[in-house]
Amino acid sequence: MTEPVLVAENLTQEYVLKGGLFGKDRIVRALTGATFTLEPGKTLAIVGESGCGKSTLARVITMIEEPVAGTFVLDGTKAGPDTRDKLRTTVQIVFQDPYGSLNPRQRCGQILEEPLKINRPDMRAEERTRRAREMLELVGLRPEHFDRYPHMFSGGQRQRIAVGRALMLEPKVLVLDEPVSALDLSIQSQILNLLVDLQERLGLAYLFISHDLSVVKHVADDVIVMYLGRPVEIGTKEELFAHQRHPYTKALLSATPMADPTLRKERIKLTGELPSPVNIPPGCAFSPRCWKAQDKCRKERPELGPEPHPAACFFPE
Ligand SMILES: Nc1ncnc2c1ncn2[C@@H]1O[C@H](COP(=O)(O)OP(=O)(O)O)[C@@H](O)[C@H]1O
Ligand SMILES: [Mg+2]
Repeated sequence: MTEPVLVAENLTQEYVLKGGLFGKDRIVRALTGATFTLEPGKTLAIVGESGCGKSTLARVITMIEEPVAGTFVLDGTKAGPDTRDKLRTTVQIVFQDPYGSLNPRQRCGQILEEPLKINRPDMRAEERTRRAREMLELVGLRPEHFDRYPHMFSGGQRQRIAVGRALMLEPKVLVLDEPVSALDLSIQSQILNLLVDLQERLGLAYLFISHDLSVVKHVADDVIVMYLGRPVEIGTKEELFAHQRHPYTKALLSATPMADPTLRKERIKLTGELPSPVNIPPGCAFSPRCWKAQDKCRKERPELGPEPHPAACFFPE
């Protein structure tokens, strides 16, 4: 078996919402007990509705934030304040918004060179430029794009620049936080194909975050479904799309338009609002919206079941 490049154990993140003069502080439980491994060359997808903690996980793994509990090991080194500098180049991130994430005053070439300027101060300018030009080609842009400013590019091209910038330091893990969600459908598949191609060439591991199961179906090897900050179902893509064990996964998939007719399912309509992570329901957090919920579900919290294909449900399918 290949050594995993990322091992996460019980990652947990909370935020405090200040109550003001008379109010009590409230705790946002954004992420709880995320445990997973990721191997080189593989894609682990994290899916779930908006607010379920996906970007929080991305910020923790890319060391933008420190978790309140849990640990993770990147390429054999345990992440923490004393290893942050060493690991800075091991993991990189691409954000959703190709418009907000590039400095409008920098030319494309400068944007690509910037990570080298900061992290490899000894590198000669010519070498930096050579690498940036090579990257431009690798992400499918043309040599004449080197001197252009971000506003002169389309959304898809900007996302190519963002991917190129993330790869300049030769990371082993790329965190992609909704990398195609802001793009037109026709452009989405171009960027997904680019990502698949880069992964094959460079042996990259992807933590691929998306709320869209049809996108996940295109790229994932393994999938973690999250609900209110917790993983509720984990499986290979094949297992998960063929057979959903957690009712929430079933509902999520039934709401996703799928091109493949064998995957078209009867639509399950979830009743009730998505609860707030400030006030997570007792027992199974999904129980207030679940059509299978029994008394036990409202009192006890189900743990993720055994491998392979664990699901946190007392009455899995
Ligand atoms: N800095 C913060 N302070 C307070 N709450 C936050 C902060 N960041 C995220 N949250 C809350 O944590 C929850 C998870 O957010 P997020 O990870 O962005 O979800 P997702 O990316 O799945 O949409 C949400 O309820 C969000 O409002
Ligand atoms: Mg997000």
